[in-house]
Amino acid sequence: MDMYTPFLLLFLLLTFSAALVSSNFYSDFDITWGDDRAKILDNGQQLQLTLDRTSGCGIQSKQEYLFAKIDMQIKLIPGNSAGTVTTYYLSSQGPKHDEIDFEFLGNLSGDPYIMHTNVFAQGLGNREQQFYLWFDPTLDFHTYSVLWTSNQIIFSVDGTPVRVFKNRETELGNVDTNYHYPKNQAMRIYSTLWNADDWATRGGLVKTDWTKAPFVASFRNFNAATSSSSDSAAEEALDSNQEQRLQWVRKNYMIYNYCADTKRFPQGLPPECK
Ligand SMILES: *[C@@H]1O[C@H](CO)[C@@H](O)[C@H](O)[C@H]1NC(C)=O
Repeated sequence: MDMYTPFLLLFLLLTFSAALVSSNFYSDFDITWGDDRAKILDNGQQLQLTLDRTSGCGIQSKQEYLFAKIDMQIKLIPGNSAGTVTTYYLSSQGPKHDEIDFEFLGNLSGDPYIMHTNVFAQGLGNREQQFYLWFDPTLDFHTYSVLWTSNQIIFSVDGTPVRVFKNRETELGNVDTNYHYPKNQAMRIYSTLWNADDWATRGGLVKTDWTKAPFVASFRNFNAATSSSSDSAAEEALDSNQEQRLQWVRKNYMIYNYCADTKRFPQGLPPECK
């Protein structure tokens, strides 16, 4: 510890202090569609999203965040969940919106879920990366986190980073209009469950099996720590162990990376891929 370390720790504690307030789905979220298909249980400690033949459902956070660390524990739909999509994402509003996405594409019993991630900035997306998970996400709750600072977005699963999206605006933003980093628009947190059997299952190959409905995804231990200023607490660089875990996931579990999809971008890959 050098003499500045205690100050740095205090600074981090203050900037992420909202983490200390325990969360409650009643006080933190509104049910926005699907009526009672979204259910808050256990005095606000749990949330269940349900999908039936008529509708899915969704919630959104009451608060908006401009930079935050968000954790959510999710237990995905067990059994045959093919055709369903469970989402958990941050988004601002308007045509030039920013967005940070986790989406979970269901599958037939025994086949792996696909965890889909994406980033939108200024209305521009096309930054998909997809992963299999190294565990069965339907057996128990697992923690899916987004650490969003002015410098980078880190997606993690149970503390293991799976994706780092860096702010490279100073380097690329002025020369290439295809690159932006989300840093000016506050976002709300959303979670939805819906039927997407027209695209989610290899282009509609597998249809949702409605005899298995209602489909239920469960959420708990939501935590949002706001950071009060844009350049605070940001530098959260990965330590060498986290860096190793990140490489392990990307080597063994990443199944799609837009930066490797040269067919999709015949005019050249997005600038940050180089
Ligand atoms: C389901 O599992 C199969 C077999 O492992 C895989 O090829 C497919 O991409 C998975 N995902 C979806 C959404 O169908």
